[in-house]
Amino acid sequence: MCGIVGIVGARPVAPLIVDALKRLEYRGYDSAGVATVEGSTLDRRRAEGKLVNLEERLNGSPLAGNIGIGHTRWATHGAPVEVNAHPHFSSEVAVVHNGIIENFRELRALLEEEGFTFSSQTDTEVVAHLVASGLKSGLAPKEAAFAAIKQLRGAFALAVMFGTDANLIIAARNGPPLAIGHGDGEMYLGSDAVALAPFTNRITYLEDGDWAVVRRDSVEIFDETGNTIDRVQQTSIGSALMVDKGNHRHFMLKEIYEQPEVIGHTLANYVDFNASRIALRDMGDTANPLDFAKLDRLNITACGTAYLAGYVAKYWFERHARLPVDIDVASEFRYREVPMAANGLSLFISQSGETADTLAGLKYCEAAGQHLAAIVNVRESTIARSSHNVFPTLAGPEIGVASTKAFTCQLSVLAALAIGAGVQRGHIDEASEQRLVEELSEAPRYANEVLKMENEIRKLGHTLAHKEHVLYLGRDTNYPLAMEGALKLKELSYIHAEAYAAGELKHGPIALIDEEMPVVVIAPHDRIFEKTVSNMQEVAARGGKIILITDERGAQEAGMEEAQVILMPNMPEIITPIVYSLPIQMLAYHTAVHMGTDVDQPRNLAKSVTVE
Ligand code: F6R
Repeated sequence: MCGIVGIVGARPVAPLIVDALKRLEYRGYDSAGVATVEGSTLDRRRAEGKLVNLEERLNGSPLAGNIGIGHTRWATHGAPVEVNAHPHFSSEVAVVHNGIIENFRELRALLEEEGFTFSSQTDTEVVAHLVASGLKSGLAPKEAAFAAIKQLRGAFALAVMFGTDANLIIAARNGPPLAIGHGDGEMYLGSDAVALAPFTNRITYLEDGDWAVVRRDSVEIFDETGNTIDRVQQTSIGSALMVDKGNHRHFMLKEIYEQPEVIGHTLANYVDFNASRIALRDMGDTANPLDFAKLDRLNITACGTAYLAGYVAKYWFERHARLPVDIDVASEFRYREVPMAANGLSLFISQSGETADTLAGLKYCEAAGQHLAAIVNVRESTIARSSHNVFPTLAGPEIGVASTKAFTCQLSVLAALAIGAGVQRGHIDEASEQRLVEELSEAPRYANEVLKMENEIRKLGHTLAHKEHVLYLGRDTNYPLAMEGALKLKELSYIHAEAYAAGELKHGPIALIDEEMPVVVIAPHDRIFEKTVSNMQEVAARGGKIILITDERGAQEAGMEEAQVILMPNMPEIITPIVYSLPIQMLAYHTAVHMGTDVDQPRNLAKSVTVE
């Protein structure tokens, strides 16, 4: 998703802005640009593709100036070409924007009637012309920006700069996040605190409807009616973390390898390993801890991989806590007009904590008077700040666009919550709680063992490369895991992959099976293993090429000599979704690396999806 940086500084800012934009690269983008004011001259450089292209442009033709705004663009309106890259200009006004201006067509028509000429296909350009129109009518820059902001509908984080004032950036937020960084004699703007890490860790997050006047020595924040408003300045913990690949080839691989550690770290936040008890630590309203005993229903809302973590948890909550669970993808939930249970809990799962659809689902539940809980990786995110109970994953910054360690950490939190819920609701006695907690504590060790299988999995990945389709099958918690496997393979390698509940195969998809079709079956030896074996036999009988991910007992009992097996250690059932995530991640990773795709930033994808 687009990234925004702004600096009102005391030194040349263009190189600083590019460095900050690099820290936002992980969000995904397809063009970039920077604009500065030097004297009273507004100037910009823009480039298609990666930031190195922008850097080359700047090396050939540097930009002077102690004030500037920069942007990485993830195309929504208009192709990812230079004319559509931000900043957009209108005479003395420069604008960068993240989000979507929904009424841009109507505004564009009005502005064209007024005589403004558009040079891009973007929705953003209307903002530059609207502000310029205000200036033309005699408004001062601050008032012109406010007048423009009031006319915008949709989701936006904006930074507006003026050729006539080298000490002013106007920032505005309605949806996508925007943070102000406080320096000494310098002020900063960024889409997140990570972007501003080299400059400051003193951060103020704008709330929806806020806009701000940012100058070298001051920041004033206003609400949507134009009244001054106080927003807390906080010390960001995320911002101190440096982001690098270590000695791994990709961020994704580094993040796969971090899993034993971050799963352990996350579990330790929700489990007392000495006492073998669940000890939920809530970073939200600690005066009102979550009481699962009072709940009649849990609804879980999330997108993509986070949704699939929630899907696994549905099985856990229903099985261990006898709590009925509805699970929805947020983009459907938000418009489905769902009647909410009176004693319901709404749980939102999001790595970034900024996903627009998930946030909209949260707002819907808030309006319906629901109790709101969140599992997020970015603790200062909007979803965290908007929820009553907050259960962070301690995965550290996840930079690879495809989620890996955040997923297994989400599963770790959810497993602890489900067991905790079972205890509170009287369905898990003390002995079972102790057993389950001890089993959970084994997850990091097993994850570590699986990492040692990378070579073997790499070879299997090579057999998938250049296949046209791959099917994934699983039952019970392995069904959402199969969906996660298919999602990882699709997004990284661009191979079409689909997942089915293994028992559903014979109701249609089995027609797809022939000698060319690889079928990845996720099947630890569990209560329903035999059922999955029957489904595998149906595939084998039709010539399908099976990759079976199972344990020793499963491999023996499957008795399928023709299958290629990823042999997992025997482990307790509760941790299989966490540990079996690793081979499916590695399989997708190595398939993609072999095919030469951009693993950390797959085409068309963004890390933090802050538009609908
Ligand atoms: C897939 C992936 C996405 C995200 C989804 C939600 O690997 O990363 O499907 O899971 O966009 O993002 P968050 O968790 O930030 O809400």
